[in-house]
Amino acid sequence: MARQSRDAPAPYHIHSSHLKRHNDRAASKKPIAAVDCFVITTTMVRAGIITIEELISDAIAVVSTMFPKIRMRRLRQPGIRNLVAETRLSPDDLICPIFVDETIEKPVEIGSMPGQYRFPLDGVADEANEIKDLGIPAIILFGIPETKDEEAMSAYGDDGVIQQAVRSIKSGTDGLVIVTDVCLCEYTTHGHCGIVDYARETVLNDPTLPILGKVAVSHARAGADIVAPSGMMDGMVRAIRTALDIDGFTDTPIMSYSAKYCSCFYGPFREAADSGYAFGDRGSYQMDPANSDEALSEVELDIAEGADIVMVKPAMPYLDVLYRIKTAYQMPTAAYQVSGEYAMIEAAAAMGWLDRDQAIYESLLAIKRAGADMILTYFAKDAARMLLLRILGRNTVTI
Ligand code: PBG
Repeated sequence: MARQSRDAPAPYHIHSSHLKRHNDRAASKKPIAAVDCFVITTTMVRAGIITIEELISDAIAVVSTMFPKIRMRRLRQPGIRNLVAETRLSPDDLICPIFVDETIEKPVEIGSMPGQYRFPLDGVADEANEIKDLGIPAIILFGIPETKDEEAMSAYGDDGVIQQAVRSIKSGTDGLVIVTDVCLCEYTTHGHCGIVDYARETVLNDPTLPILGKVAVSHARAGADIVAPSGMMDGMVRAIRTALDIDGFTDTPIMSYSAKYCSCFYGPFREAADSGYAFGDRGSYQMDPANSDEALSEVELDIAEGADIVMVKPAMPYLDVLYRIKTAYQMPTAAYQVSGEYAMIEAAAAMGWLDRDQAIYESLLAIKRAGADMILTYFAKDAARMLLLRILGRNTVTI
């Protein structure tokens, strides 16, 4: 049968969702062609299976649910479409990353992420304040330390870059939630997320765990509100939970990068955080993009180990994973729209190939619709500005 054009009446096929809303009995019937329908029903009447009265009342029920009575476009008109929107974005959904660089005096733009900056320690509180004033509830901090070594010692010192940044933001900004990324890759000379066995060119899991515990405790001592381990070491959440609890930080939540994929979309971040690696890739600890059952296992383990918030990363290429995780566990769930997702939109917008504002809005909306309760995004400030303008009725985005 020929396909219906959008505006043409649809006399032969009935969409089951329309029927369901209006008539449960009719909903259970599969759409069938009118000719088949005629043959079947006349046979049924002749055979005495159904009376002509029943047939007529059934027909009325079915026809009454059909076009043109049902017009899905009625609710898509300006204004009305907002009333029926199932997903709404708000600045409250956003977590804004900040890169703090101990080695610079002025903000430095990141080449691979135009519009994003590394901030010096004494500029970070101002940036945090700007973010807070836009109604964004939280930031996540990444540090670029002055010194690196084999065992990431600069990651847990009391005067490390993150520890100093947290203190300065805490004293200069009221009420902003400070999340800290807990990982070793920015602090190791080899750039991997754990202790390395060079002979075997591999990252050692268990020797890394106590170091992650130390890093998390040092962040909490400095005043971090949430710690976010991103290294994908087995047992990292338990190691961090134990270390925090022993130190008295029983109320510091853990946001675990539970389903973190080994993704090329982190490319631009490696320049931003100076965390490129000396050999191999991160495939022995980050997840294979082919898998999503495995993501559920990762999340389940993290929950059992004490994670308070779970995360999927990257976001847009993994919306199916996000949806499965949110549906299966109903945990507070974060999604990270990563550097490569940012760079793609920026690059296409710079070429004039995408409307930047629309692309930002639609991508974030899609991530939320798929199940994210919060989104880590480099677009946080722009998105918050856009959303505030929308509330004031000065739309910059129309979807
Ligand atoms: C550190 C870390 C990475 C990102 C967040 N934390 C890089 C990586 O795992 O290689 C990626 C963030 C982004 O691309 O925006 N482990």
